[in-house]
Amino acid sequence: MSTATAPTKARAAIGERTLRKDNWRRYPIVTVVIFTAWLAYGLVRSLMGSDFWVAEYHYLTPFYSPCVNVECGEAALFGAFLPEATPFFIPFAVLSLPVLLLFRLSCYYYRKAYYRAYWASPPACAVGEPHQSYTGERRFPLISQNLHRYTWVAAFIVSVINTWDVVLAFHGKDGGVGVGLGTLILLINLILLWAYTISCHSCRHIVGGRLRNFSKHPVRYWAWVQVSKLNERHGQLALITLGTLVVTDLYIALLAHGTFSDPRIFN
Ligand code: FES
Repeated sequence: MSTATAPTKARAAIGERTLRKDNWRRYPIVTVVIFTAWLAYGLVRSLMGSDFWVAEYHYLTPFYSPCVNVECGEAALFGAFLPEATPFFIPFAVLSLPVLLLFRLSCYYYRKAYYRAYWASPPACAVGEPHQSYTGERRFPLISQNLHRYTWVAAFIVSVINTWDVVLAFHGKDGGVGVGLGTLILLINLILLWAYTISCHSCRHIVGGRLRNFSKHPVRYWAWVQVSKLNERHGQLALITLGTLVVTDLYIALLAHGTFSDPRIFN
């Protein structure tokens, strides 16, 4: 006869906040520093309204894509509808930036990171949190995190627009095709942005979910396997793309400002 006892709802009574001996505070502290610095940089750059376009090589920073303010000039690759002298808090890329911000804010990886770092909920595994109650993501406002799958669709469209930006960045000094260091930086950033977008958990479900069996859907199964492999690296890609976005934007900003010129591989 089994001697197993029924599970109890009560937690073990441990007086200590945690029994962990390692440096568990490092992850939330580093996260706060990186995310706060990135948000400050992104906010300043996206609201600056200058140094976002290098006309000679058709380089457009992702922070301004698509550029829809009439002040974008020829950088308005998809047309401009925002009038001049809009309030300072409306970015030139007003269509894409809010969507991308929501996309990352509701991303599973970022949720884990900022719940731990900013809300200490919990600050780390097996560490007690300071909050008295826990309602999870079942109520407003956190239930809205479920909109992530829809922000993924919007982010996918923005990635297609970013792809077109990079195609145009293969523009030579004397017209025709050309490649410079800026082209390569934009291209690497684009590849990593696609990898981040495709490795999303929602994408994995869109590709392989809601099927009774894979044997009748070999193409979707193959795609699901590929997305699943990328998905294992989703957290890393989330962090790496924060870095590549800043590097790409900073490079184009300095180039547009005339700080240096773009080393050309040809034309
Ligand atoms: S889970 Fe991170 S982008 Fe979807």
